Amino acid sequence: MLAFLNQEAFEEKKFMTEKTPICDYEGSDYRTRFWEGQGRDYEDQVERVALRRLMPARGGMLIEIGAGFGRLADEYRGYDKVVLFDYSRSLLREARQWLGDDSRFVYVAGNWYQMPFVNGLFDTLVQIRTLHHAADAPALFQELFRITRPHGHYVLEFASKHNLVAMARYVTRRQSWSPFAPEPVEFVELNYDFHPRWIREQLTSAGFTSGQMLTVSHFRLQPVKRIVPLRLLVAADSFAQLTGNWWQLSPSVFIHNRRLGPGETAVPGQFFACPECTTPLETRIDNSLPCPTCGLRWRVEDGLYDFKEPLFT
Ligand SMILES: C[S@@+](CC[C@H](N)C(=O)[O-])C[C@H]1O[C@@H](n2cnc3c(N)ncnc32)[C@H](O)[C@@H]1O
Repeated sequence: MLAFLNQEAFEEKKFMTEKTPICDYEGSDYRTRFWEGQGRDYEDQVERVALRRLMPARGGMLIEIGAGFGRLADEYRGYDKVVLFDYSRSLLREARQWLGDDSRFVYVAGNWYQMPFVNGLFDTLVQIRTLHHAADAPALFQELFRITRPHGHYVLEFASKHNLVAMARYVTRRQSWSPFAPEPVEFVELNYDFHPRWIREQLTSAGFTSGQMLTVSHFRLQPVKRIVPLRLLVAADSFAQLTGNWWQLSPSVFIHNRRLGPGETAVPGQFFACPECTTPLETRIDNSLPCPTCGLRWRVEDGLYDFKEPLFT
């Protein structure tokens, strides 16, 4: 018989452990406000070019961290199982509505600092346009390392502070922070830009081996996008991306990482783990996944695995 944790005991425990702030997109109109008809076809296409260059085209298990409404989900056709992971239930529901009943997709809501998966589960991890919301990137990298299989791949995109526009603003004194300083800058609350060198160092500290870098979105300027035909801009950016190993002056950088060396591979059949205590969750009871160790229960509803808040009723 499982002993469930009551709400009071959980709140007390949460108070003691929850520390890193989260940028909450619950109920956000991100898709229509930022992408649909908003003149960002260039950004979308050059990100796909970089992703195809760095991500293995085929594999077993892939997770996209901060997948939002599933904008890039069609890039994962070569994978057997694809986890779309995000903190926003509403964006994941949009993804599910859009992708239909394709059983390869698993929709999981949760916090990336406490991933609800067993160790060594994923062959490939992808994270694009989300690191700028990470107040504690080193903690996130450690957590992602834990769920990566030995020899697994982690393709990360991040917003780079070391870009030409930021440099021009800094030297003309229109910006106070230095694009050359290694530490992250919080330019708006819970929005960070990172230095490529600092990111590499943090990935290495977490255990990853970083490889190729691609610089992306070199021509992200309204007047340029208005005048130059999209195909030409995408072709020019695709070419310029390849200079990323030598210098990084664009606002967006992709980096390919691997988990090399020995490590744990997930036991076949195990998948979810309790985000509070990392115990594998093997038994589903009705619409919940109970944790046999800490007694928390996690909701499963309308195809969404919800690890944001435990169930108490
Ligand atoms: C700018 S959107 C990008 C969405 C998607 N990657 C794309 O490029 O279309 C950032 C996403 O990060 C998610 N996010 C932010 N903090 C998170 C956290 N702590 N855990 C999981 N997801 C988070 C948000 O919910 C949001 O969907």
